[in-house]
Amino acid sequence: MPRHVVLLLSGPNLNLLGTRQPEIYGTDTLLDHVRAARRAATERGWDLEHRQSNHEGDLVDAVHAGIGRVEAIVVNPGALTHYGWSLHDALAAFEGPIVELHLSEPREREPWRHTSVVEPLATARVAGEGAAGYPRAVALAIDAAAADAPDTGDDSERPS
Ligand code: DQA
Repeated sequence: MPRHVVLLLSGPNLNLLGTRQPEIYGTDTLLDHVRAARRAATERGWDLEHRQSNHEGDLVDAVHAGIGRVEAIVVNPGALTHYGWSLHDALAAFEGPIVELHLSEPREREPWRHTSVVEPLATARVAGEGAAGYPRAVALAIDAAAADAPDTGDDSERPS
């Protein structure tokens, strides 16, 4: 049976979570968030792959590598949220659901954080929920992918 895979992408500076501005982002590390996200995927019978990079091109490559292979993407683009047009374009080439995720609520912060280049592509947006946002975003992505999944043709339960 082929596995269902959700790809979690983490943008610049998220590798510093745990010590980076804990008053905004909390004290959980990125690994803590990935573990919680993976648990949410596993509970639904899915695999979760994670990639963090401080370089936009690496994230673009990760999206390309996911096209046709993973069924959903959850992305916390970090500051690329606000200006990462090449990440936007890569995500636009992805055919499955995309969930935009933030620990904080950028709309309640500095004006330059109010624009998201990812939002127009996103099936759902999870922001301002802190650590709880990770498993919730994964659940939303998987539910959206499952809803989009083509009919398997299994009509064994239908009346003949
Ligand atoms: C963030 C919000 C962004 O504005 C910021 O640049 C980040 C983290 C969040 O998770 O709240 O790096 O995406």
